Amino acid sequence: MGDTLTFRQAAAADLDRVAAILCDDPPRELVAVAGDVERARRVGRVIVRAGAMAQLDSTVMCDVGGDAVGLIETIAHGRTLTRAEVVRMARAFGGGALMIGLPGAIRFVRWRIARSRVDAPRPSGSYYVAELAVDARWRNRGIGGALLAQAEGRARALGHRQMSLHTATDNPARHLYRRNGFRVTETRLDASYERMTGIPGRLLMVKDLE
Ligand SMILES: CC(C)(COP(=O)(O)OP(=O)(O)OC[C@H]1O[C@@H](n2cnc3c(N)ncnc32)[C@H](O)[C@@H]1OP(=O)(O)O)[C@@H](O)C(=O)NCCC(=O)NCCS
Repeated sequence: MGDTLTFRQAAAADLDRVAAILCDDPPRELVAVAGDVERARRVGRVIVRAGAMAQLDSTVMCDVGGDAVGLIETIAHGRTLTRAEVVRMARAFGGGALMIGLPGAIRFVRWRIARSRVDAPRPSGSYYVAELAVDARWRNRGIGGALLAQAEGRARALGHRQMSLHTATDNPARHLYRRNGFRVTETRLDASYERMTGIPGRLLMVKDLE
């Protein structure tokens, strides 16, 4: 790819772009909870702008020609949410719940419970990739791979020996992860999670950093 990619820490001014990158093509789980694609976009934007998805201080943006086109959120082992972050998340999910009403709130709770069954525990000590997304118009040009490589550099600099992430069993992104040295260490399938989301289950993928 001829374009020059630059990477930088996300800032408050990026919130709208973060919301667009994560929610213009909303994750299927969000669509399942919100009820339809359009509502998923709206609810997602509210949640992101309220600071509850992709914490800015742990998110790196990728710019091309001054425009933010992708992002990666990583969580160093041992980092726990601050009180302010928990309050911000509760408010954001409250705002989202108001938009999807009581049936949506019930779907959200059922989804959270099912999701906890399909997410295998993260290996302790690993540098965790919580979000990776590229604007749909910029996909398949190596930006996702470059964001992963960038995160790996930070993981190594911080002294981590391993990276980890979760992804849907049928997400094509798993090929990108494999190509970048991640291997599946656990697959969890769940019939009620699949009924709810259309996704059979989730993979835990790990990369050892020598
Ligand atoms: C996953 C994602 C970040 C990859 O970004 P990208 O800039 O396209 O990645 P790259 O160009 O470096 O690599 C492309 C690879 O992504 C994989 N891929 C992921 N989603 C894909 C899709 N919907 N269609 C085709 N390929 C996809 C392919 O394996 C492709 O590899 P290939 O070249 O061997 O076919 C991007 O597709 C995206 O934002 N998807 C939606 C959000 C998401 O699913 N994130 C992962 C959550 S775990």
